[in-house]
Amino acid sequence: MEIRVETTPLHETAADWLIVPVWEEGEFNAATAALDAALGGQLTRLKERGDLTGKPAEVVVLPDVPAVAAKRLLPVGLGKPDQTTRATLDRALMTAVRKASEKKDVTVAVALPDATGAVDRYAAAEIAATALTVGCVGQGVYQAQPSRHPFGSCTVLAGSGDGRSAIEAAVKRGRTLGDAINLTRDLVNRMADEIFPESVAHRAEAVANDCGLTIRVLDEKQLKAEKMGSLLAVAVGSERPPRMVVLEYRGGGKDAPTLALVGKGVTFDSGGLSLKPTDSMKTMKCDMAGAATVLGALTAIARMKVPVNVTGYMGLVENMISGASYKLGDVLKARNGVTIEVLNTDAEGRLVLADVLCYAVDHGADRIIDLATLTGSCVVALGEEITGVFANDQPWADAVLAAAKAVGEKTWQMPMDEQFAELLKSDVADCKNVGPRWGGAITAAKFLEKFVGGKPWVHLDIAGPAFAESCAPHREGGATGCMVRTLVAVAERFAGQ
Ligand code: BES
Ligand code: MN
Ligand code: ZN
Repeated sequence: MEIRVETTPLHETAADWLIVPVWEEGEFNAATAALDAALGGQLTRLKERGDLTGKPAEVVVLPDVPAVAAKRLLPVGLGKPDQTTRATLDRALMTAVRKASEKKDVTVAVALPDATGAVDRYAAAEIAATALTVGCVGQGVYQAQPSRHPFGSCTVLAGSGDGRSAIEAAVKRGRTLGDAINLTRDLVNRMADEIFPESVAHRAEAVANDCGLTIRVLDEKQLKAEKMGSLLAVAVGSERPPRMVVLEYRGGGKDAPTLALVGKGVTFDSGGLSLKPTDSMKTMKCDMAGAATVLGALTAIARMKVPVNVTGYMGLVENMISGASYKLGDVLKARNGVTIEVLNTDAEGRLVLADVLCYAVDHGADRIIDLATLTGSCVVALGEEITGVFANDQPWADAVLAAAKAVGEKTWQMPMDEQFAELLKSDVADCKNVGPRWGGAITAAKFLEKFVGGKPWVHLDIAGPAFAESCAPHREGGATGCMVRTLVAVAERFAGQ
């Protein structure tokens, strides 16, 4: 699916759907006013009657507009210009694109809104390209008749006042981000029978070759040799052997520092012997979202040739039950020698990450971000749309929070007081893998902190936002690809240092 840039006036743009952004305040811009004139003032009349308000993400379907080249118009509300952010524009354009992608082989054109203080025309072009790429792909990967369809063709309409090549660059960037988000979504949306440690590693190999990343896959034997006893214990109950994938991108030259991205890749989380009830287990194919996000972000960073050194680590295991499963009361030894008393086999993500974090530190990570669908507690605390941020270094946390804010992804920093580490004290080992019920997202983060060797580290708990239980007008249910954009923005800022 190619995204073209054209400069044709709106009323002369031929497409099945023409998406026209409309503000809640003020007059139509020049391009929209010309369209309105060609329509004999139809848009003005709709506005006067209150049928076209421009309220955030309101879409108005005009299925038959004979006076213009497009077959259908899709005005979409942007809200008030001074309240526009990348997030509000993204939400509006995603809503419109998703509406247009209900039928097969449709052609769609998107007009760009005028620049505001927060979002210029180039940012708008990028956001439009990402929305066109992400919005037309649904979660119905196994449906004969899916509810969303890739477009036959798409066009972003630039104006004569825009720098054409800069708009084209922005569209290319938006497309790359969209493809990365879709890769993450696809891996998460596919069932665990298809997505298991070896198959994820194979997919990562194909992707790495395609975008120029170096890849290394460690198998069970190598993981044993690397003393990753904590990760291996989780894997032992499954028929599917574990893997660790290491992806390397060296865009920053040999003296530049390395950013390590570490992802939890539990391809299915049954809970192990601390078995989950059905309701909690039914979405647990999503438990490798952290690893899928790392892979997605790295493809975009490589394709965009960001001048930065990034290493991605994916800790891939399946948490299952069998006669060989790890048991409650077992004491595991992590790569850094820390011993862990297992008191709940469903707190497995931290056991996987413990060893992968140690490995990243041992292999020259200067700064670390890990991503994990780690705790239900974080969903209780922050809901389904906000990522929990935990850190051992405030400047590094601030950098990640600022990057997320700039790209319009919602985050909230959580406390990391030492009293939560106390709750992990064990009588038989250096620590236990679970604390009491309260503050579960924080004790999980305090557990991870033991394995980062004092390096600046941020932990992103994406248990809520990685996977949506149901569809909304602006986004498909299932995997969301959250935090891909944030990671790319962090890498770009890291490159600037
Ligand atoms: N993968 C789950 C966390 C999760 C919950 C992800 C909901 C996505 C949606 C994790 O492995 C888990 O089971 N955590 C336990 C920890 C507990 C046993 C301390 C939880 O949150 O209940
Ligand atoms: Mn679990
Ligand atoms: Zn899990």
